[in-house]
Amino acid sequence: QPVRLAEYRPPAFLIETTRLEFHLEPNTTRVKATLAIRRNGDHAEPLVLNGERLKPISVAIDGRVLSDNERTIDSEFLTVPDVPNAFTLTTEVEIDPENNKALDGLYMSGGRFCTQCEAEGFRKITWFADRPDVLSRYTVRIEADKAFHRLLSNGNLLNSGELPDGRHYAEWEDPFPKPCYLFALVAGELDELADSFTTLSGRKVELRIYVDPGMAPRAAYAMDALKRSMKWDEQAFGREYDLDLFMIVAVRDFNFGAMENKGLNIFNSALLLADEATATDLDYERIESVVAHEYFHNWTGDRITCRDWFQLCLKEGLTVFRDQSFSADMRGAAVQRIKDVRALRARQFPEDAGPLAHPVRPSAYLKIDNFYTATIYEKGSEVIRMLKTIIGADAFRAGMDLYFERWDGQATTVEEFIKCFAEASGQDLTGFFGWYEQAGTPSVSIGQSWDEDSGVLELTLRQSTAPTPGQPNKQPLPTPIAIGLLDDDGRPLRETEVVLLDSAEKTVRLDGVTRQPVISALRGFSAPVRLTIERPAKDRYVLLAADPDLFNRWEAGQELARDLILSRAGGTPDEVGEERFAEAMGRALGDQAADHAFKALLLSLPSEQDLSLAMDPADPGALHEARDALRARIAVHLEDDLRRLHLSLQEVGEFSADSDAAGRRALRNAILDLLSAQPSSDTLALAVGHFEAAANMTDAMGGLLALVNLGGEACDKALTDFHAKWKDEQLVLDKWFAVQARDPSDGALGRVLGLTAHPDFDSKNPNRLRALISTFASMNPARFHAEDGSGYRFLADQIIIIDGFNPMTAARMVEPLGGWRRYRDDLGALMRAELERIVAHPGLSKNVFELVSKSLA
Ligand code: ARG
Ligand code: ZN
Repeated sequence: QPVRLAEYRPPAFLIETTRLEFHLEPNTTRVKATLAIRRNGDHAEPLVLNGERLKPISVAIDGRVLSDNERTIDSEFLTVPDVPNAFTLTTEVEIDPENNKALDGLYMSGGRFCTQCEAEGFRKITWFADRPDVLSRYTVRIEADKAFHRLLSNGNLLNSGELPDGRHYAEWEDPFPKPCYLFALVAGELDELADSFTTLSGRKVELRIYVDPGMAPRAAYAMDALKRSMKWDEQAFGREYDLDLFMIVAVRDFNFGAMENKGLNIFNSALLLADEATATDLDYERIESVVAHEYFHNWTGDRITCRDWFQLCLKEGLTVFRDQSFSADMRGAAVQRIKDVRALRARQFPEDAGPLAHPVRPSAYLKIDNFYTATIYEKGSEVIRMLKTIIGADAFRAGMDLYFERWDGQATTVEEFIKCFAEASGQDLTGFFGWYEQAGTPSVSIGQSWDEDSGVLELTLRQSTAPTPGQPNKQPLPTPIAIGLLDDDGRPLRETEVVLLDSAEKTVRLDGVTRQPVISALRGFSAPVRLTIERPAKDRYVLLAADPDLFNRWEAGQELARDLILSRAGGTPDEVGEERFAEAMGRALGDQAADHAFKALLLSLPSEQDLSLAMDPADPGALHEARDALRARIAVHLEDDLRRLHLSLQEVGEFSADSDAAGRRALRNAILDLLSAQPSSDTLALAVGHFEAAANMTDAMGGLLALVNLGGEACDKALTDFHAKWKDEQLVLDKWFAVQARDPSDGALGRVLGLTAHPDFDSKNPNRLRALISTFASMNPARFHAEDGSGYRFLADQIIIIDGFNPMTAARMVEPLGGWRRYRDDLGALMRAELERIVAHPGLSKNVFELVSKSLA
């Protein structure tokens, strides 16, 4: 039975204070909860609390233990029919953290206790009103064997001390009311990296990062990112941190990236630990953005939370927008924007075009865990970005200020959030709300007619959105389209202006256009839409060479490449066009004004997933070959330049993780990647040299990936050496698994299957599963979509196995099969057959069932 937004009811009972006492034991942890409960409103409903997988010990009201017939306990709820209007509920349960391989609730990772409660994990710890609109003040007492050296929870440490029998305890108090999904507990042996930050108003905040013993130096970059985030939120949003202590803990077994528990963020160690030897620049970049994201949640998520889980984008879309803005300030706006859009297109566009399409604010779900999607996060952020574009930066900031002031300490809704901006800007944003309620990526087209004599350019903008599951009829949405004009020599004709396309069709008249115009539209990707412009092919070359909007300069190159690849995949290669494109790439590479990171992005052709969305029906094998052919042509055409550049970009001197140095490495790796499309003994020697001379993990992985693309003995040797060198470094081993999952050769699946039996393969660890299985399914389309269906069968087998102990992670692997309707009929049928096999599996979790059954519907 799905949960529906329309059925929201305020909580029947409120929990004013919560005291938790943990007696930690790996298999028999006791949890005693003392809750001060008050009836909410005038009704006679029973008390119903969530609780799953709990072994009941006792339930008492106002100190009196209830008999079995005064309460009922089933697999989901504790129900007490008859309760006073205000009372103290005391319960005690036993749980088994060590055998919790779902990694939801209280579990053990690497011999340490840790928690993950969002969205509904707290109910696996104790009976509670496990919903985000019940905010409570917590005190927590943790008792454990002294081997579990650190005892951490939310808020401030009240006291700690010794106990008999080699045990000890700590008591924590969190002064801020919070929903239970923000509760956290960590216990175990951990090293500490300590620092502090002084807020704008002069308060000193202690900062602590806890990691596996010996790893503290690798938390230095995360600590630096944290301090920069704290400062940035003060400057950009006027938000100061509120407790005296802020802690982050890194754990190796984690279903997602990280979690914003109040005052005690818990991170997947892959998104926290970095040094030059073991982490790539991409890791550094993600660490910076995730540390910022979780920190920013302190205001957008923790101080102001969601009324119900349908409002998830209220905190996630907004917080992604905030972390993207931070990264843009740290690393350069244009390059950041291109990367964000590339990720949106790779993950969100396919979701929006398939059976799992849902609005940014969905209205029904079976398992909320399935809605931590690219749509909620990334499209949710795009919607906020458009809001800012439409009302302007000042009104946007005023609206945010109003939101913080009005809703601090409360749980609220997207409607209330938007209301703040309507008030601050004086604009009617009713239509804008459609962006939250309507699924699907709108298509926008622009037609042009220019009259040389009058100097008038008429642009006709149209929008439409294809039906998505459950939404056959779509409305036009208010869509900001940023437009500038160049002349055909690439000189600016008109600066950027934003046209608000708020109807199905709109005509815009621009005067004073005295030279043949080249349109640069959707600058900076001003809206999450698919754009087509009616225009001569040469215009794209003008934009690629000269658009002052770097996003559109990059975009022009992507579109040119896409069309060339699609022509080739469709059997009509445009060889002249390919030469011309290669030449233009060469000129772009020689541009002294452009930075390295930008050039690296320019050189990276559209991804195969991206291309498959533009081909109907999609033929992954043909796309892979066509894309390789274009890469090879560029490599041949520019070989000398590319080699010279590769040499000149070599690392000299000290390693730096900053964005300039990272850009240089990215360009050098992109060049090697291009060159590896044209196998030869020279290329092989170059790749081997690149790999063997690597002084940091970014270069090593660039070299290794090229070698995997080239295959053969040199590749096998490099993989063996790499494993020998890094066999004790789990995060590096993940990279070793992942790079092999990207093997483009026919033998890839055999290699991957072999790796599932490797002694270092650990199916209980989500990072390792993602490294091998998800990388194969989503980053190796040519092999995943093997004609005989073997790739699909492999993924389905894995989903079924993993679902047996970790439904959340299993559910996240369904997506590559979900888009079956978009593929060639024979492939689509094979994919569908695997989905049917999964859904028929007895004992399937709700998580996997929901996604698979929707994919088949
Ligand atoms: N709130 C966390 C974050 O953004 C993610 C929690 C994921 N939980 C889940 N059940 N999918 O950063
Ligand atoms: Zn988040």
